[in-house]
Formats: sequence, structure tokens, C-alpha cells
Amino acid sequence: MKIKEYDLSEYINEDLEVSVDAILNEYGLLICKDHTKRVADYIQVLARKFGYDPEKAKIAALLHDISGVIPNIKRVEYCKVNHIDLIKEEVELPLIAHQKTSSHMAKIQFDIHDQEILSAIACHTTLKKDASKLDKLLFIADKIEWDQSGLPSYKKMVEDLLEDSLEEAIYAYMKYNLEGGLLKVVHPDYLEAVTWLEAELKNKTTRRVK
Ligand SMILES: [Fe+2]
Ligand SMILES: [Fe+2]
Repeated sequence: MKIKEYDLSEYINEDLEVSVDAILNEYGLLICKDHTKRVADYIQVLARKFGYDPEKAKIAALLHDISGVIPNIKRVEYCKVNHIDLIKEEVELPLIAHQKTSSHMAKIQFDIHDQEILSAIACHTTLKKDASKLDKLLFIADKIEWDQSGLPSYKKMVEDLLEDSLEEAIYAYMKYNLEGGLLKVVHPDYLEAVTWLEAELKNKTTRRVK
């Protein structure tokens, strides 16, 4: 269901990049526009490196923050109207619900029905256990090309790890945030993802040693 004020159809044409650019411009989301462009460029580099379709990765990146058009105070209402389930942490800090609302908008407004793309958008802030390759690529591209000013303190560490392993880089980034107390809210999906990744990496090492 579309809420009329967020009906983006007048801006959507066959060129997704142009459409997203026009929408973010129209809504005055210039930081988000710049961030989205950088994530879309970088995810393609990562996709080529780690053997994933760069074009598909680019679509996920272009739409990952599209629900920035919904003001923070309207997010919970948007979810209610559109039957999007929120957990306690997301109601308390609606900002972290934007991964779900962006995925919803990608489907409803942009007609994206590829489950890999929708999933990656829906977990790009928290990640989740059993994450797919695209889930991981979007998660880490979003963090390297962040939407804050200056360079992230973890950038060099994560980029160095990305030379060899997508999973090692993500795990190090997630632990860095957890141990540094840097998360505004600790989402249960984030915690599950860390535990899952830890086990995956341990298994990999054991297999390598054998
Ligand atoms: Fe985001
Ligand atoms: Fe983002």
C-alpha cells in the first residue's frame, strides 16, 4: 500500500540511478544522495572482487536508503499502515527501521521483486545470521562509504581486511562497534550476525588446519 505523500512514481523512470537522484534531490536529502552514489560505486568494486553481479549489487545500493524520504517521526506510522513488523528497539529508535521501510519501498514503488536485493536492503544496517553474499556486500559498503562527515575510524582496518576476506572484515567491524560501545542501540539481528559470523570463521579455520 502506498501512502500518498510518499508516492514516488512521478520521479521513477527506466533509469534507476537518475530516478533515485531526482527523488533524493526533490526531498532535499543531499547528504543521502552523495552517500548513496558512493555506496553504489563502491559496492560494484566489492562485487567484482568477491564474485557477485555488480549490476544487481548496484540496484540494492541505489535503493538502500530510499526511505529517507519518510521523516523519522513518521516511520513507525508508515510501518503500521503497511503491516511492517517492528521490534521494540526499532520503535524506540525509528532510524534503525529505515532498512525495513527502504526494502518495502523498493518493492512497492520500484517494483523490485528480487529477494536477494530486498533482503540486502532490509538488513543493511544490522546484518543478520545466514547473511547472503549481497547482504554482506551492502552492509560493508554502507559502512565504508558512510553518511557522516570525515572518514570512519575503522576504514583502514576494514579495507585492509577486505583485501582477503569479506567475512573477516565484517566481523572485525562489528566487533569494533560492540566492544567500543559505539552502537546507539544493539539490535538483536546484529548480535545474531556476530555470533553466526564468529562460528563461520572458526569453522573455516578448522577446515583449513585439517
Ligand atoms: Fe541506511
Ligand atoms: Fe546508507
